[in-house]
Amino acid sequence: MAIVSIKQVTKIYPMGKTQVQALNGVDLSIEKGEFLAIAGPSGSGKSTLLNLLGCLDVPTEGTVVIDGQDLAKLSEHARATLRRQKLGFIFQGFNLIPVLTAFENIEMPLRLKGENNPQRVWEALEAVGLKEHAQHRPAELSGGQQQRVAIARALVTDPLIVLADEPTANLDSKTGEAIIELMKKISLEKGTTFIFSTHDAKVMSKATRMVSLTDGRIEESIVH
Ligand SMILES: Nc1ncnc2c1ncn2[C@@H]1O[C@H](COP(=O)(O)OP(=O)(O)OP(=O)(O)O)[C@@H](O)[C@H]1O
Ligand SMILES: [Mg+2]
Repeated sequence: MAIVSIKQVTKIYPMGKTQVQALNGVDLSIEKGEFLAIAGPSGSGKSTLLNLLGCLDVPTEGTVVIDGQDLAKLSEHARATLRRQKLGFIFQGFNLIPVLTAFENIEMPLRLKGENNPQRVWEALEAVGLKEHAQHRPAELSGGQQQRVAIARALVTDPLIVLADEPTANLDSKTGEAIIELMKKISLEKGTTFIFSTHDAKVMSKATRMVSLTDGRIEESIVH
């Protein structure tokens, strides 16, 4: 069974007297363990699609099913629980809390789940090669290191799916490639499903499948 199933999804944003059709009848089925890239020009709907998958927004029409749960049939509370329990997020701008150390940033999603498990935090730090930097604050880390902290934070709860909206966009191409390699290694080792958007052809080439969006529609799907 697919871990994510998107059927005939449409997203229309009202804009004053007009509307913007960000997604226009998207069908997509994603299997467990896929390392899936979403490509497409600016404005094609990549972030909109990731936001729907992340339970950050709801479609205008169509269904989104994650791990057997139809998001539209869940209460707001149940959707928030699904987010916390099953999803991990990596952002373009890292989104770390500046006053917290790397360790404390990574620990945050566990705390939100009411768990106290420093062992898990150390394992996550080790997985991204930053054990020595546990006590550094974000400003005391390079861009690539900050994004590695963000990856560890996304993985610390052992999510089923990690969603990443242009995770390499704020990094130079070499660091960006290393970040994608690290995500792929973790995906292979743990079977975690990754869904990420990108503009970078080198990043796309690392995906097990690439889906490309044009004007809110899936244009093509390439399996590597
Ligand atoms: N909150 C919003 N309100 C109105 N229109 C929006 C909103 N968010 C996105 N849009 C519009 O929806 C379309 C898709 O936007 P989206 O952000 O999903 O594109 P994208 O593929 O992520 O682009 P980029 O590569 O620039 O990040 C665009 O036309 C955009 O202007
Ligand atoms: Mg975007």
